[in-house]
Amino acid sequence: MVSLQLDGRTVVVTGAGQGQGAAEAGMLADAGARVIATDLAADVPAGLAGVSPRAGAVVYRQLDVSDSSGWSGLASWIESQGWRVDGLVNNAGITQRSRLLDASVADLRRVYDVNVAGSLLGIQALSPLMGSGASIVNVGSVAGLTAHYPVAYTASKWALRGLTQVAAMELGPRGIRVNSVHPGFIETPMTASAGPEFRQATLAETPLGRTGTVEEVAGVVLFLLSPLSTFVTGAEIPVDGGQSGHGGAKSVSDAMR
Ligand SMILES: NC(=O)c1ccc[n+]([C@@H]2O[C@H](COP(=O)([O-])OP(=O)(O)OC[C@H]3O[C@@H](n4cnc5c(N)ncnc54)[C@H](O)[C@@H]3O)[C@@H](O)[C@H]2O)c1
Repeated sequence: MVSLQLDGRTVVVTGAGQGQGAAEAGMLADAGARVIATDLAADVPAGLAGVSPRAGAVVYRQLDVSDSSGWSGLASWIESQGWRVDGLVNNAGITQRSRLLDASVADLRRVYDVNVAGSLLGIQALSPLMGSGASIVNVGSVAGLTAHYPVAYTASKWALRGLTQVAAMELGPRGIRVNSVHPGFIETPMTASAGPEFRQATLAETPLGRTGTVEEVAGVVLFLLSPLSTFVTGAEIPVDGGQSGHGGAKSVSDAMR
């Protein structure tokens, strides 16, 4: 039966200690997957505790996604368990809010190390452990679909789209799908640090008129990992309440009411 169930599948989620990553780990485990949840902390992060009621469904491993030796260590450990990898969610990401004339090359490199190189390293380390039917989801942003003002973050998420499309093309012949999701304003610790004017201006651009939840992103990730999406690869799915779809026309529409 074709369904959203992931029974018998092993999925790696990066940046799973809080926010969207923790919600993705929990929802994927609830769908039956064995989830290898990874993050920077040595010990299981508090945000991951209790995300799934299924005992043993979520296994925590420390991983800095920008560290290639960390990725090869994770791949070796997975192999030593006798598991293959059926899914990878490149969720870990950092923001950096410098504007065009203030951003330094160091800022750009720091963001690229995590948001772009981290995803590349993950694909390089784990795709050899994947077989036909595996699925990779890269977590981009509406910033990667628009001219969002924090330049280093925006450039990194546009770069991630390029990486995603090359990976979809290169891994397609092996039956491995690669897609990206592009969240709008989602309530997480990352957005909790944004100013009220950012929240208000984003809501004005969002046709659904509200912010999103981590579960609303996790649901799309689950779909992309599931047998319901087996002919979907190279897709870029906004999960943004319509923020990116109107291409700037919402303020015109609002002004004409
Ligand atoms: N929250 C939003 O509104 C929003 C919008 C668009 C895109 N996103 C993207 O969604 C993803 C998750 O965002 P979030 O809001 O849950 O963020 P968050 O800051 O709440 O959580 C990110 C997690 O990634 C981890 N992390 C950071 N650097 C890491 C590294 N080098 N190696 C491993 N883990 C690392 C952090 O420890 C943290 O647990 C990110 O890629 C982010 O860019 C978020």
